[in-house]
Formats: sequence, structure tokens, C-alpha cells
Amino acid sequence: MENPAVSGKKIAAGKAIEYIKDGMTVGLGTGSTAYWAIQGIGEMVKKGLSIRAIATSVQSEDLARELNIPLVPFAEIDHLDVTIDGADEVDQELNLIKGGGGALLREKIVAQATRFYVIIVDESKLVRQLGAYPLPVEVTPFGWELTERRLRALGCTPRMRMKDGAPFITDNQQYIFDCSFGVIEDPARLHRQVSEITGVMEDGFFIGMASVVISGAPGGEIKIVKRG
Ligand code: A5P
Repeated sequence: MENPAVSGKKIAAGKAIEYIKDGMTVGLGTGSTAYWAIQGIGEMVKKGLSIRAIATSVQSEDLARELNIPLVPFAEIDHLDVTIDGADEVDQELNLIKGGGGALLREKIVAQATRFYVIIVDESKLVRQLGAYPLPVEVTPFGWELTERRLRALGCTPRMRMKDGAPFITDNQQYIFDCSFGVIEDPARLHRQVSEITGVMEDGFFIGMASVVISGAPGGEIKIVKRG
């Protein structure tokens, strides 16, 4: 049987690619939901759609190349028209936690340059308040022990993300700390506090950035919530 979360992701991705039109510059997200959007965009390109794309990770860049989606360097653009990306949690105000795949820094750089930022999730990612999912924080390796202590002092339990017994290294050659805060009452305030720590390169809060969130359910239902 198909994994219900996968089909919710695929359904949301199928809807999101409808925003992509000829001539656009498009941001390609990272993760298992964005994967379906990139596949869909690849199909559209195959049928003649003309776009230029920027990927938010090496993984998505590789996939785009495989699918013959034309990539463009930042030097050649001043904004992106549409970016489609996943999220780990979405609250009722469309604030997000992202970075489960470790691509948060590139994702936020691309998101900030995007005019219409489309978030696609399966419905299990919709929450009343952020925080059940630990906040990913990208940290520079120099002095990480101090940075970890300062994160802990904000009231969380930070865990260095590991892969195959060694620290997980991002595409930017940095570490990730997954910080469990529990329910986060004021994400904007916590984002400011985390960002003030020297050594933190970026956190996984995407506040006020999503233009629309599309969630898919295994039965095929789609919910679309636009920023008001
Ligand atoms: C990648 O760093 C993340 O921000 C992803 O967008 C997020 O973790 C969602 O991933 P999935 O689509 O794989 O659930």
C-alpha cells in the first residue's frame, strides 16, 4: 500500500506546480515533498515549458540536472518568481519550521528572494503551534561548544545532528543542532534570540514568508491557505 504521507506530499506538489508559467525563474526546494514538485517541473520542461531554476541544495540541483531543468546562477537574476518547498511544521499563521533535510540556510536565501513562496506539505505537518518538531539551527563548526551552550541557555535541549556516526555536515560545511523547545509561544521572538548568537548561521524559523500553503491528504483532498 502506498505510504499515506507520501501520497499527501505528491498531491500537494501536483497542485503547486500549477503556479509555474513560461518564462519564470523558479526556486526548487529540498526534501521528499519538494522531490515531487521537481519531478513535476521536469515533466513540464520535457513538454516544452521554458523556465530557469535555482536549487536549494546539492541534492535538488543534481535532480534538476537529471531532469534537464535549466539552472541559472544567482549572478544572472535579481529575484525568483515562484519557489516551491516543503516544511516540517506549519502553524495557523503560516509560520514554518524547516530544515529537517538540513538545507535551511540555502532555502531561506532563496525564499527571501522569492515573490511567491509556495509551501507544500502532507496534512500531518499542520499544527496549532510550532515546536513539537525540534528547531534545526545551522552552526559554524568553530567554537560550536559555546554556541551549543548559548542555545541551551534559551531553554532547549540541543542535539548535534549525526549521520553514519559522524556530525552531519550541511552543503555549507556546517553543523546542525536540532533544538527541542516544546511548544513555542512566540516564534518571532525566539527567532530573534537564536539569531543573536554569534556562531548561529541560520535557524529553521520561516516567519511571515509563505505566500500560500498547500496541504494534501491521502484521499486526494487539497487544502490551500493563502496569506491574508
Ligand atoms: C529541508 O531542509 C527541509 O526544510 C524540508 O523542506 C523539510 O524538512 C520537509 O521535508 P520533507 O518534505 O522531506 O518532509
